[in-house]
Amino acid sequence: MQQLMVEIPQRQYPIFVADGLLADTQQLRRILQQYIPGRQVAIVTNDVVAPIYLDVVVAALDGLQVDVMQMADGEAEKNLQVYQQTMDFLLNARHNRSTCLLALGGGVVGDLCGFVAATFQRGVDFIQIPTTLLAQVDSSVGGKTAVNHPQGKNMIGAFHQPVAVLADTATLATLPAREYAAGLAEVVKYGVIEDADFFEFLEQHSEELLAKDGAVLSEVILRCCTIKADVVSADERERGKRAILNYGHTFGHGIEKLCGYGQWLHGEAVAIGMVMAAQLSTQVAGLEESVVRRLIALLTRLGLPTELDRASRQVVTVDAMMDVMGLDKKVVDGRLRFIVASELGQVQVRDDIEAGIVRDVLNRC
Ligand SMILES: NC(=O)c1ccc[n+]([C@@H]2O[C@H](COP(=O)([O-])OP(=O)(O)OC[C@H]3O[C@@H](n4cnc5c(N)ncnc54)[C@H](O)[C@@H]3O)[C@@H](O)[C@H]2O)c1
Ligand SMILES: [Zn+2]
Repeated sequence: MQQLMVEIPQRQYPIFVADGLLADTQQLRRILQQYIPGRQVAIVTNDVVAPIYLDVVVAALDGLQVDVMQMADGEAEKNLQVYQQTMDFLLNARHNRSTCLLALGGGVVGDLCGFVAATFQRGVDFIQIPTTLLAQVDSSVGGKTAVNHPQGKNMIGAFHQPVAVLADTATLATLPAREYAAGLAEVVKYGVIEDADFFEFLEQHSEELLAKDGAVLSEVILRCCTIKADVVSADERERGKRAILNYGHTFGHGIEKLCGYGQWLHGEAVAIGMVMAAQLSTQVAGLEESVVRRLIALLTRLGLPTELDRASRQVVTVDAMMDVMGLDKKVVDGRLRFIVASELGQVQVRDDIEAGIVRDVLNRC
């Protein structure tokens, strides 16, 4: 088992990463006991994850009051109604301020459970047990919690850090291939923004990654969490450096919006967006073309798209992209902000890029 401490102002919390963490009931119980403050636990999970992983988690919680809130599956469930139902559930089961919530699932469960934890009786502890690769390397670290509003994703939320994160790489065995690849897109992102050696490691271990090798995955998850934790602790509330985590996301969000959420998985849109951002980087930050080729090769190897397909091109026109990106919430003072790379592991936040250059890049992608 490997462990990483996330240091944020006034607090710290551990991320445990291991292959088979949930199957080892004794060890799981030992870890959970340290972080559950009282006698009550409420597990928030969903219909897909519960049948596979709920029993093993409950087994490690013997002696406690354990209640299970099981949501339906899907991004659409990350809403205020399910938030309300979870609140009702906790109150009906008489959970008090010393209860501990436990998010068992992907980013949807984690974000909703985290937001409930942030606000139930002005905030209670919560533990993340992320079961998707995206959740293990991204959404469970950093303390952002939220639900969606009909007018936009993550429009209602709070910053609330978990007391511990437990990532079991073995849970990825049951994850659908597309979801797994989507998580790998965020993994590649960390290499691009912060760590050229890690990017190279991914190139060298793509075989093991595709085979979901536990040892390689543990190393990868730990590295990603370290990078995200470093960036986040330098900028917990997204005022500066944290923006680099959005590499590929301005383009990616544009693609997601224009194609309709659900057409591309977030990670797939980000993969295409990262290639666009790399192309832009060659124009404005001196990134070598060879790096763009390496990025495309790695993403392709990992089962990710690197360009739009014909159907998507019909809706993701240059004009539509410029329009939708201009409305992106990452716009500061009316200027488009892009994260560009000068080399692998070196990125800059730029708000001086002319619209014409962005258009040219989109035209060529
Ligand atoms: N808080 C943050 O910082 C942050 C960062 C990135 C993304 N997010 C949010 O995360 C969400 C996306 O997370 P996600 O990609 O994990 O999606 P998800 O939670 O919808 O999970 C993807 C699918 O996999 C299923 N699943 C989960 N674990 C499984 C397993 N082990 N085996 C089989 N199936 C499994 C889920 O039920 C779902 O159908 C979005 O709502 C996004 O806004 C938050
Ligand atoms: Zn992302």
